[in-house]
Amino acid sequence: MERYVIKGGTALQGEVEISGAKNAALGLIAAAIMADENVTIDNLPDVSDINALIEAVAAIGATVNRIDRHCVIINGSTITSHVVEYEQMKKIRASYYLIGALLGKFGHAEVALPGGCNIGSRPIDLHIKGFKALGADVVIDHGVVNAKADSLVGNHIFFDIASVGATINVMMAAVRAGGRTIMENCAKEPHVVDVANMLNSMGANIRGAGTDKIRIEGVEGLHGTEYSTIPDQIEAGTFMCAAAATGGEVLIKNVIPKHLECISAKLIEMGCTVIEYDDAVKVKVDGEMDGCRIKTLPYPGFPTDMQPQMTAVLALANGNSMVTESIFENRFKYVDELNRMGAVIKVEGNTAFVTGVGELEGTQVSAPDLRAGAALVIAGLAANGFTTVDDIVYIKRGYEMFEKKLAGLGAAIELVDSDKDEQKFKLKVG
Ligand code: UD1
Repeated sequence: MERYVIKGGTALQGEVEISGAKNAALGLIAAAIMADENVTIDNLPDVSDINALIEAVAAIGATVNRIDRHCVIINGSTITSHVVEYEQMKKIRASYYLIGALLGKFGHAEVALPGGCNIGSRPIDLHIKGFKALGADVVIDHGVVNAKADSLVGNHIFFDIASVGATINVMMAAVRAGGRTIMENCAKEPHVVDVANMLNSMGANIRGAGTDKIRIEGVEGLHGTEYSTIPDQIEAGTFMCAAAATGGEVLIKNVIPKHLECISAKLIEMGCTVIEYDDAVKVKVDGEMDGCRIKTLPYPGFPTDMQPQMTAVLALANGNSMVTESIFENRFKYVDELNRMGAVIKVEGNTAFVTGVGELEGTQVSAPDLRAGAALVIAGLAANGFTTVDDIVYIKRGYEMFEKKLAGLGAAIELVDSDKDEQKFKLKVG
């Protein structure tokens, strides 16, 4: 089975190029099917989640022309089915974006209900309430969401919770609803803005994305466009944490520094130097880092998707830290693995109490989910000796060429899929 083998202890140095944002690209791919013309999406990250959603879109009949690893042309004029099977949903949860896209375009979507996942139970009740508010009849039968409407009509929608998924999904349907939709308490994450921008470039009329109130004037149809995905805030943040944990100096390129402010602010508080450029940030560590308090919050707060990676850094910092997870209920599964590496972290309720230890010891660990997997790699990069990270299939869902990018910064890391290759790597790096 594929795993990463890491020899820790090298301070990362150099430059790394960040890929397109996975979570933005998932929304863009779903939105693309709403036009009957070519929609070209560039700067896609080449990760398994994206490839799974592209497969789901092809499975309903959309024409998919993969230009290269980072560019796809999607044409929704050939769609023959409004049904997204459980097989697709199992591979990629964000297939649920096809409910909003298909409902908006055809007035009908039948999509398998996503289950919970490794970070907790993840309901889609807010998505469904939004579709109903637009006049759709939504029934859940045998685990399938069946949404139908003769015609969608704009409405005033207030989301109980600022949900990224519900905001994007309902926004897609509302683009084709008659009249005006006002959505309040919307998620403000950069990928919400990115999907709204692409829809606007297809002829939609969406204003206010990035604020908590989004106004949409329905349009009769959408046309083709060419669009480039924004850089990945979380991938960039992960490399910032890797630089910090290893005491390195890394220039992280192709980013929007504004999106990283919540992460930069914490690293600065811990004693790191963070320098912002137009489209890059440099993270540099001189001396030791201090612990801090972190609470995950919707954007522009500290992202839940950066919580595990930052906790790995805090495990190494001086003093006590507190990390409170306020978005998902089951996001500390990696803590036992970090503790096996010598970290001292105690979880009580939704808070992790971290006692900084200065040094971690390499061992064999398993990635419980995508971001937790990245956190274990960061810990391995900083730890003494060898760390093996199993179950990297999760990491490959969201990080493009993770090991290659890290190796480019001087890390001793290799993806292996046999004990023999693991031994070979260990002999090579001593
Ligand atoms: C998206 C991201 C995910 C990130 C999360 C929070 C994608 C593909 N995934 O997930 O990486 O961790 O935002 O930034 O973009 N909720 C409900 N009912 C709903 C919808 C959500 O109760 O109908 C709750 C969730 O359980 C959670 C909170 O709202 O507690 C926020 O979830 P949400 O923003 O919807 O997350 P996702 O869109 O699933």
